[in-house]
Amino acid sequence: MKKILITGGAGFIGSHVVRVFVNRYSDYSIYNLDKLTYAGNLANLSDVEEMPNYTFIKGDIVDAEFIHKLFQIHAFDAVIHLAAESHVDRSISDPMAFIYTNVVGTANLLNAARMLWKNSSGDHLFYHVSTDEVYGSLHNPEDFFIETTPYDPQSPYSASKAGSDHLVRAYHNTYKLPVVITNCSNNYGPNQFPEKLLPLCINNIKNNKSLPVYGKGENVRDWLYVVDHARAIDTVFHGGKVGETYNIGGFNEWRNIDIVHLLCRIMDKKLNRPEGTSARLITFVTDRAGHDLRYAIDASKIMNELGWKPSLQFEEGLEKTVDWYLTNNEWLENVTSGAYQHYYKEQYN
Ligand code: NAD
Ligand code: DAU
Repeated sequence: MKKILITGGAGFIGSHVVRVFVNRYSDYSIYNLDKLTYAGNLANLSDVEEMPNYTFIKGDIVDAEFIHKLFQIHAFDAVIHLAAESHVDRSISDPMAFIYTNVVGTANLLNAARMLWKNSSGDHLFYHVSTDEVYGSLHNPEDFFIETTPYDPQSPYSASKAGSDHLVRAYHNTYKLPVVITNCSNNYGPNQFPEKLLPLCINNIKNNKSLPVYGKGENVRDWLYVVDHARAIDTVFHGGKVGETYNIGGFNEWRNIDIVHLLCRIMDKKLNRPEGTSARLITFVTDRAGHDLRYAIDASKIMNELGWKPSLQFEEGLEKTVDWYLTNNEWLENVTSGAYQHYYKEQYN
């Protein structure tokens, strides 16, 4: 029985990864370690919590002593590391939380894995989940990020993720820790916290609130359905080469203003409102500080070498996402009460 530690499993992407692994691999024991910050929510995993191969552990990856003991007690065979502070706007207002969790927290996990595995000949892997934002911003429309694109992070969030990627590679190079890294583009889908563009707009359209589009809405992102990211992680975990990096993306670029208009059309249809109703809520607001212009992933390596590809067309995925938010009112109401109200007021008023 393989023991796998998944960090950040109560968050958006982590919960989909936990679900894939728990359901697909009954011979693995899956341990989900999560601090349950504002972004962590055990309701995301209500369908797997009773599964015999699933265990939840509440804890903070920044606490080195706790992490060290946890690895001694459970002797994990592999780690899939997703726990992070993930929201760029929050990194602008409070960078230190990102440096502690994303840099120090990753270092703590690397140290614990190194200590545990150093005298063992077992089949181990430290899988680090990262972002395309480490590559910086593209300005030439023909350019794409490939695995060898030099790092050029521009926000405290992306700098903290770049720092963690460098540490992971350094532990492989220096201590021969078996690692793999994936860098993925923007995810969308069920269970995403409504501070991120798409769920924020879905929630605001529902409540007839304005849709804040930063700057002129001309920034471009590449979007991938979250379950396709979870499938890619499964593919790389089982077939990826140790020491390698794989970029993951949807070949699906959208300007923010265009994606918001598409979402508005879908919402009008779903809510039986006359076409154009939701789009009237679009409001251009002050741009994000240091806003990266364009991200675009070239995912050829994972597609050609490991046979992964996205399964959903974007409009189909977006409709599925809208349906999920419209039928999971209780989830949305729970996460948008309390601290969310305070964050929203600070961010947009
Ligand atoms: P999220 O914010 O939804 O979830 C993060 C999870 O980590 C939460 O459950 C939170 O409680 C937990 N966590 C935070 N600090 C912790 C700590 N100190 N100790 C233990 N747990 C802690 O994030 P997400 O969007 O699901 O992103 C997951 C990972 O994927 C991150 O590493 C992120 O950088 C990466 N990523 C995200 C995207 C995206 O579009 N969301 C794209 C590419 C890569
Ligand atoms: O590219 C991968 C990254 O995607 C991940 O590493 C991050 O964890 C994840 O948060 C996401 O970062 P972005 O900054 O791209 O996502 P966000 O949803 O915050 O913003 C998407 C785009 O929309 C971005 O250009 C900023 C813009 N935006 C965002 C918000 C929240 C708006 O115009 N208005 C908004 O209210």
